[in-house]
Amino acid sequence: MELGREADTVSLESKIGRCKLRISMIGCGYVGLVTGTCLAEAGHQVLCTDNDAERIAALKAGVVPIYEPHLDAMLAANCRSQNLSFTRNAAEAVRAADAIFICVGTPPLENGEADLSAIDNVARLVASEALTSKLVVEKSTVPAQTGQQLKRVLGLYRRHGAVQLRVASNPEFLREGTAVQDFLHPDRIVLGVEEEETEKQLREIYRPILERRFRCPVHLGACPPAKSPDLLITTMNSAELIKHASNSFLAMKISYANMIADLCEKVGADIKEVTRAMGLDPRIGPRFLDAGLGFGGFCLPKDIQAFIRLAERCGVDFTMLKEAERVNKRRVDLLLEKIRKALWVIKGKRVGILGLAFKANTDDIRFAPSLEVIRALLAEGAQVRAYDQEAMDKTSAIFPQIHYCRDPYEAAQDVDALLILTEWEEFRQLDWERISDLMLRPMIIDGRNLLDPAAMMERGFEYHCFGRPIENQTAPKAIIHAPEVFLAGAHVPSAPSTEIVT
Ligand code: UGA
Repeated sequence: MELGREADTVSLESKIGRCKLRISMIGCGYVGLVTGTCLAEAGHQVLCTDNDAERIAALKAGVVPIYEPHLDAMLAANCRSQNLSFTRNAAEAVRAADAIFICVGTPPLENGEADLSAIDNVARLVASEALTSKLVVEKSTVPAQTGQQLKRVLGLYRRHGAVQLRVASNPEFLREGTAVQDFLHPDRIVLGVEEEETEKQLREIYRPILERRFRCPVHLGACPPAKSPDLLITTMNSAELIKHASNSFLAMKISYANMIADLCEKVGADIKEVTRAMGLDPRIGPRFLDAGLGFGGFCLPKDIQAFIRLAERCGVDFTMLKEAERVNKRRVDLLLEKIRKALWVIKGKRVGILGLAFKANTDDIRFAPSLEVIRALLAEGAQVRAYDQEAMDKTSAIFPQIHYCRDPYEAAQDVDALLILTEWEEFRQLDWERISDLMLRPMIIDGRNLLDPAAMMERGFEYHCFGRPIENQTAPKAIIHAPEVFLAGAHVPSAPSTEIVT
């Protein structure tokens, strides 16, 4: 479709309140699948492609290769209504679209910079296959100035002189586990554009989201009233920078909370009390102040590194970010120190793990702290058994030698210590009496500060966490006769036999 005709179609359909654009997603990972499915739900005609043939075959058969709440049902519904389809043929996806969203991976290189080779491949493919004008939207997280390079490559490899290939940056702010909700109810939509025509086209793409014209699977069609998301029109460089700056700030916020937690342990303060009060200041805000094992996943760790490298390349001293990264890397070591202190000798001990995913509500284990913890425990000669609602299949591909359990209770069976490594809500609600009976020694090391120390002590557990000294909690009902150990930084007794005072 030529650009003039395309624009006419848009304005005509806009008048009747419906604008169905033809959109292709290149890359069917978390971002591509969620974006494609949600845009199909918003009424557009979406075609998704990926160079992983197995993934496309699975999607065509209705199998969603990732766990993301609400995605399966929405994907199936939109495939049925034929708003959403999948193809292995990337050239077909390029030709069929008015707008092409690049959603390929930008993994870290050895030096921490983002590997942009997949973006470069897509650019050359689009340039050589496009027979009509297209809008190319950069959705993958990329360093500032990538859009300018993209434009250059599209121009250099363009086969048909009359074809216009415009570029925009439209960063995503989706969190795994709540990605569908984040897409349909965003805080903000950022459009980095260079031409009016591009802005107009992107506004049309997002119009159903801004006007809330979709069936919301999260609120079952009854979304709570909320103000319309902010739509920000920026330059492409700003849009790209907004994404890295946002993720890096979140990472710094977590590392800051973790440093405060360490200090709490030393001075006998409680991190939960401190961050709660801090978060009530609207200038700080309550979120991303949860102390513990630190941040993992495929976004925060790699984005902070890429941002550090970008700053270095530009001659800007961003030591602050390097510190946030260093603090985060120390978290696993601190957890291991707590384990060593509590178990004395790790070799020959049985350790149960609750939670493998890098965070709750996902099956993603990329850069999950759990992997480093398991690696260290195995190296030191522990026997490991683990349970996670969603992430066991992926973890077993890396650690086939550990025992994977049907439920948290099996993970607690005959273990010397039970570690909580992911903040799954289910772990708050366990039958702790049953768990205590199953364990060789009732000891919990809570890497996510998920449980209430006082309640765990009352149940007779030896309980370790981050930044919440046990001595500050309500006096435990359990009187414990055992050698002395350190609990969460406080010097208190613990152990093998407990006597409950009623
Ligand atoms: C992150 C950003 O939050 C999204 O806005 C962004 O779109 C996404 O990266 C991306 O770039 O695609 P995500 O990686 O899904 O989203 O995970 P987060 O919710 O940010 O959590 C990251 C890690 O920080 C997890 O390991 C989590 O357990 C940890 N975390 C989070 C804490 O340790 N403390 C907190 O207070 C919050």
